[in-house]
Amino acid sequence: MHIARTIHEVRESIRDWRAGGERVAFVPTMGNLHAGHLALVDAARAKAERVVVSIFVNPTQFGPNEDFARYPRTETEDTTKLAKAGVDLLFLPGVEEMYPGGTEATTFIEVPALSAQLCGAHRPGHFRGVATVVARLFNIVQPDVALFGEKDFQQLLVIRHMVRDLAFPVDVAGVPTSRESDGLALSSRNQYLSAEERKRAPRLQATLRSVAEGIRNGAKDFDVLERDALQALQSAGLVPEYVAVRRAADLKPARVGDELIVLAAAQLGRTRLIDNLRV
Ligand code: PAJ
Repeated sequence: MHIARTIHEVRESIRDWRAGGERVAFVPTMGNLHAGHLALVDAARAKAERVVVSIFVNPTQFGPNEDFARYPRTETEDTTKLAKAGVDLLFLPGVEEMYPGGTEATTFIEVPALSAQLCGAHRPGHFRGVATVVARLFNIVQPDVALFGEKDFQQLLVIRHMVRDLAFPVDVAGVPTSRESDGLALSSRNQYLSAEERKRAPRLQATLRSVAEGIRNGAKDFDVLERDALQALQSAGLVPEYVAVRRAADLKPARVGDELIVLAAAQLGRTRLIDNLRV
């Protein structure tokens, strides 16, 4: 596996592959890799001859009181995992390489149709930071296909909208959420949980399952389902940000008959958890 720290090095590798007619699949990450990230890498290998992974803890997608400083950085372990997984190129840029004009003065990408609600309402500027860094990474790596986890469902839709609106020549593929055996979605942030919090964390997925079951059993008042779910999370000692039944295609308000998704975010101690479930 080749490791590149500069845009120049990435472009040199890509140029040779392209000249040989090879396709490139790309998995952007913030590192601290777990089995969910590696499932994206496996899906990438199935889609193209060459797989590129980036690791960059992107400062512009973190709010001022969020966990940018303490976000786990595990470059050595991550590099070993990716080499074993058959990745061709790992891009490990520093902040100066990604934000040559500084993080404040950079050009930003906004996807307003999707960014103000749900996670975006609780993390102002988050999706602007995500769209901006992913756009820049797409221009650096120039992949044929890029893979994103359905765990971050709103992020996946933000990227799809950006790609459509800005005509990026990239196929965006979603990959199902990898979970622990008790249902908890894998996340780099799970390691912030104390042993006691870790036991309660699967309540988030369990609550989504009970909302989905209510809908499948014919419940039609989604407001009531959402309110009951918020209460269930509170009773389990979580501090919910939102539980929302939405249209899966675009996160617009749900109506009976739509293809639906239930999404939720909650704080557990100092850890922010998110999850979702298709109905
Ligand atoms: P990060 O949280 O490192 O996630 C990288 C990719 O892995 C994302 O597409 C995310 O949805 C996916 N992923 C995380 N946990 C997963 C799980 N349990 N199952 C399946 N996929 C999972 O998301 C980001 O980084 C950043 O916002 C990024 C897109 C890299 C932009 O900075």
